[in-house]
Amino acid sequence: MDYSPLQKARYAYQPKLPSILREKIDTIALAKGAIGVPETDQETLKSLFPHTYGLPQVNFTKGTSAKVAKKINIGVILSGGQAPGGHNVISGLFDALKNANPESRLFGFLGGPSGILEDKKLEITTELMQEYRNTGGFDIIGSGRTKLETEEQFEICAKVCHTHDISAIVIIGGDDSNTNAAVLAEYFLRTKANITVVGCPKTIDGDLKNEFIEISFGFDTATKTYSELIGNLMRDAKSAKKYWHFVRLMGRSASHIALECALITQPNACLIGEEIEANGTDLNEIVDSLTSIIVQRAAKGLNYGVILIPEGVVEFIPEIKILIAELNNLLAKESAAFGALQTWEEQYKFITGKLTPTSSHAFTTLPQLIQNQLLKDRDPHGNVQVSLIETEKMLIQLIEEKLKKMAAAGQYSGKFSSLSHFFGYEGRCAFPSNFDADYCYSLGYNAFLLVANNCSGYISSVTNLTAPANEWHAGGIPITMMLNMENRHGKLTPVIKKALVELDAAPFKYFAAHRGSWAVDSKYLYPGAIQYYGPTEVCDTTTKTLQLEHN
Ligand code: FBP
Repeated sequence: MDYSPLQKARYAYQPKLPSILREKIDTIALAKGAIGVPETDQETLKSLFPHTYGLPQVNFTKGTSAKVAKKINIGVILSGGQAPGGHNVISGLFDALKNANPESRLFGFLGGPSGILEDKKLEITTELMQEYRNTGGFDIIGSGRTKLETEEQFEICAKVCHTHDISAIVIIGGDDSNTNAAVLAEYFLRTKANITVVGCPKTIDGDLKNEFIEISFGFDTATKTYSELIGNLMRDAKSAKKYWHFVRLMGRSASHIALECALITQPNACLIGEEIEANGTDLNEIVDSLTSIIVQRAAKGLNYGVILIPEGVVEFIPEIKILIAELNNLLAKESAAFGALQTWEEQYKFITGKLTPTSSHAFTTLPQLIQNQLLKDRDPHGNVQVSLIETEKMLIQLIEEKLKKMAAAGQYSGKFSSLSHFFGYEGRCAFPSNFDADYCYSLGYNAFLLVANNCSGYISSVTNLTAPANEWHAGGIPITMMLNMENRHGKLTPVIKKALVELDAAPFKYFAAHRGSWAVDSKYLYPGAIQYYGPTEVCDTTTKTLQLEHN
């Protein structure tokens, strides 16, 4: 096997654990804390989760624990999009399990949740684990987007686990996967299946967070990777002085990734979907405000710049939000009739004829490229796939049209050349930063302790993350505590609330206070590539978002 020098060096990296998890494993005891109840919908959630509602929060302290040494088989599942650090969650889980009892075994279900349904698995051995320590990707066992949500599926899960004497499942996923972990845990308790379910908070999007989950893993590395690229574009733009770079960033609905990258790099502009929605800013106003920055810079002879755009922004622009909702319904109801149409002209006529007049108008004012993308295949929930909509190209086209008009009216005499970029997949499998390597290893190690203490329906929680790793706290939170009832496909459903950018929280406030000074002058910051070896302040610090939230 060939390995890159960094790969070899990372195999030897020993992730840092909170000091309590560095203790001999049978001297780590579980301490029960306050009873964890959700903020809203208590009565409904209590009736839906009679076995896992109102459990105590737990943390690990020095003591004794006879339970951990019991021989046990655990199954692990990676669910959803890749996020740097997934392999480290598995290595933390593996090391804790083997420290507790070398005869215990870890199995990875292959290709995501479908692996357990199809009974496809792989034993994680010492040799296999060594190939993946501190590396990016989910390729050790693969991931997938199948959802574990029906009783029929739960029955199969129980059968597969019983067949292989697996008495615990660790699900590494985002808000939906952890919601499903809570439902599965409740089902196993109700049916006395004797299988523990523990979740781990994953997603580069950063939208699975609350008081107890300070950050989802992968967000740190992904945003550092995108920020490196954005900084490089800034230097290129400032050197060549001829391009405006429009950079769309992954993150689904929430704008956390774009905001964090803006805090790191100080671009000329960064759209925040949540702010656009709160202010009811329409597409015209967005185009006007970006154009105004371009015109002001042109007046200073600066015909270049960098603008960041969250991929989910289209869903927050009021008229497009309504349009997308109407299109989702229309395409779900009329999929056969729409699918039979052969030409773009036929499709255009069909759609504009069936939308409400306001949405029909909104649709017709969009560039054809975007009209086309809005009609593309829906995700399994019937929603438009925001990562496929090239909002950056739409904005470029609309700004170009506006600048032409301004030039004709003698209000603008600059040069506007633009380049569009989309950064998403580039950051999802990077070598985890030291923060993510340490955090993920700790989450996995901690998940084993939750399993060993029968904490079914809990999510692994490692907190105090802006302090050095030895000062981190380790414990678990009952997932039911993070649930609320939301309308999903016309039915009230228990789900973990997606955390969007909060406009009254410190990260956005800092951005809002400084963006004016970044807009016209070039105050770019160049973070460079993630550093794995060197001074602590260069290698080990976590996100600006978390630092601002903690201060
Ligand atoms: P998760 O929510 O599963 O963590 O995935 C996040 C994400 O990377 C989004 O940022 C992006 O919109 C989406 O996945 C892309 O999905 P896919 O991997 O299916 O193309």
